[in-house]
Amino acid sequence: MHVSSSSSNIRPAISCLPSVGEPKPPMIYDGSKVTRLAVMGGSYGNVPALTACIEHARSIGCDGLAFIGDATGCCGHSDETIALIREHFQYLVAGNYEQKAAANEEDCGCNYTNDEDNHYGGIAHVWAMKSLSDENRKWLGIWPDLAHLETRAGRILLCHGSPAQTNEFLYESELDDTRLNHWLDQHEAVGFVCGHSGFTWTRELGKRFAGNCGVCGKPDHDHDAAVHYASIDLTTPTPVANIERVEYDHLAWADQLDAEGVDDVFTIPVRNGVWTCGLLSMPATERVLRPRPNGWLRNVLKASV
Ligand SMILES: [Fe+2]
Repeated sequence: MHVSSSSSNIRPAISCLPSVGEPKPPMIYDGSKVTRLAVMGGSYGNVPALTACIEHARSIGCDGLAFIGDATGCCGHSDETIALIREHFQYLVAGNYEQKAAANEEDCGCNYTNDEDNHYGGIAHVWAMKSLSDENRKWLGIWPDLAHLETRAGRILLCHGSPAQTNEFLYESELDDTRLNHWLDQHEAVGFVCGHSGFTWTRELGKRFAGNCGVCGKPDHDHDAAVHYASIDLTTPTPVANIERVEYDHLAWADQLDAEGVDDVFTIPVRNGVWTCGLLSMPATERVLRPRPNGWLRNVLKASV
């Protein structure tokens, strides 16, 4: 973790409400040398998907990698996942899983409103905790709740759920441009990237932007097993977040998780791209199965030849 300056001059008013514990001031990261930024989150212990996303980011020229929380989760394999993050990511923001792990709490802190979703969220957190060493658990506790990445294009605000609350779900169907612009004004940022919900979106706000990078450990409920992250070209006058789609050997991973005893409520989405839980807490407009992307079958058939 590279920190460019002290956070002592940060106003407490712009802290983020964490899932547990006291808010921390935003971390200030020096990203002045970065030309293309990759922002990932929500790996949930999916080691091959995270590995594929890192390789993809390198292949398109990303020279700065940010991870914005929820490294661990339903797949277990927490220590392997964190080893990848320690090796590849310079910029970190805690998600609800990191905050709950650091506090040794049993619930996932996902902010679900449905009991069944909370039940499965708790099981996912059990898988996360039992594959997490105490050393790594303590390390997760030093991740900031918010980050200011100072780049050649201006300040990029990095958060997990929203700049106001670690476990707030920012859904595209409910976006409020006034609120998005307020956060950018408040943080004097040219853009911000969040995650947590699992569903990607991008929004241009004049010469500024906001975006949700999706999650790199789970598909986005559209029959497509690929995972997602965001890339941002910082050499353009007005950077925007681009959503990257990444394939990996999801069937082999689902088979491995099945063999390890992971509940199929978690392996079915890995296998076929359709969510089995978390949906009942969403607004109705987000809960629907997303349309298959144009050309999806042709691409699947081509890949299997
Ligand atoms: Fe989250």
